[in-house]
Amino acid sequence: MSTFTIESGSGRSATVREEILADPGFGSNFSDHMSRIDWTAEEGWHGHRVEPYAPFVLDPASAVLHYAQEAFEGLKAYSHSNGSVWRFRAEVNAERFQRSCRRLGLPELPVDDFLASVDELVRIDREWLPRGAEQSLYLRPFMVAVSPNLSVKPATRVTYAVIASPSGAYFGGSGVQPVDIWFTRDFSRAAPGGTGAAKCGGNYAASMLAQREAEAHGCSQVGFVDATEHKYVEELGGMNLFVATADGALTTPALTDTILEGVTRSAVIRLARDRGLDVSERRITLDELYEGIDSGRVTEVFACGTAAVITPVASLRDAAGEHVVNGREPGRVTLELRRRLTDIQYGLQPDPHGWMHRI
Ligand code: COI
Repeated sequence: MSTFTIESGSGRSATVREEILADPGFGSNFSDHMSRIDWTAEEGWHGHRVEPYAPFVLDPASAVLHYAQEAFEGLKAYSHSNGSVWRFRAEVNAERFQRSCRRLGLPELPVDDFLASVDELVRIDREWLPRGAEQSLYLRPFMVAVSPNLSVKPATRVTYAVIASPSGAYFGGSGVQPVDIWFTRDFSRAAPGGTGAAKCGGNYAASMLAQREAEAHGCSQVGFVDATEHKYVEELGGMNLFVATADGALTTPALTDTILEGVTRSAVIRLARDRGLDVSERRITLDELYEGIDSGRVTEVFACGTAAVITPVASLRDAAGEHVVNGREPGRVTLELRRRLTDIQYGLQPDPHGWMHRI
C-alpha cells in the first residue's frame, strides 16, 4: 500500500461547519478535503494524496464526459458515543468497486488503497462527522476516465477520488418515514449482459426519467422490473427491496447481472437469518407482489441501501392503481432489522460479524 501525502487546507470556520452539521440534509454539503489517486497505463497508480476539497479541472475531451466511463461507491463513517469513529464493511465496498471498475474497463484500485483513501480522509475531516441520531459521514469514492480522446476505447488515464458529505436521512425528515414507490414497466434500468450489477453512473442516469415520473405521481423512488419479460421485480432507482410475509419469511429478488449486490442487502440477509427468519433470494413477479399485498399475505415491504439504511415502503403504485402495505405503517420485522443494523453501526450493541472497523 502506498503512503498518502497530506496537504491540509485552512477549511471553513467552526461556525460554518457547526451550522451545516446542525441540519446536514443528504449529499449537498461536503467536508474540507478529498482523497485523490491517479492512474495512467504507463505509470499505474500514483500520487496518493489528501488535498483541500476543490473543483476538478477536466479536459473537455475527457472520456467520462462523453462515454460515461466511471464507477463509484457509497459507504458511511459513524461516530460512537465515546467519540470514536468507525466504518462499516468498507472491504465489501472495495471489492465491489473492483468488480464495477472491471466491468467498465477501468483499472482496479487495490483494496488497501481504497481503505486507506477513506481512512485518511475521515481522519483529517473527523470534525465533519455529525453526531446526531441517524447521522453519519457519507463517503463517496469514485473513479472517472480522464483520457482526452474521443475514440471509444478504454481509458489510459483515470483519476480516483473520495469526497465526504455529512448526512442525515436520505429521504429527509426525522425518524422512520415510510415511502411510496412508483413501479414502471415502460423504462428499464439494466439489461442482461449490461452494467446493472456494477455501481456506475450510467445505471443511475437510466433511472432519472422514470424517477421524474415517480415524483410526478407523488412517489419518492422508482421501482424497476426486468428488461426482458417486464414482470420480475429487480430493484429501485438507488436501493434493493425486501418483502416480509405473514408466514415469517423474508424474500428479496435473487441477484442477477442486472441487480446491484447491495452491502446493506447482504447485511440484512445475515441479520434476518440470525433472528431465525427464513430468507429466500428468488424471482418475484410484480403481479405476485401486488396480489400478496392486497390479500394481506405480504405484511411488509422495505427498501435498503447505504443511503436509505432500511426504509419502510408505504405503498407500491403504477398507472393501474395503488397497493397499500400494512396500512402505510412501518412493520415489526422492518423496524427490528433496522434497529439491529443501526445499533451495530452506532456502537449501541455488540458487532457479532466484525463489520465495524475503527478509524
Ligand atoms: C448508496 O446507497 O450509497 C447509493 O449509492 C445510492 C444512492 C441512492 C445514494
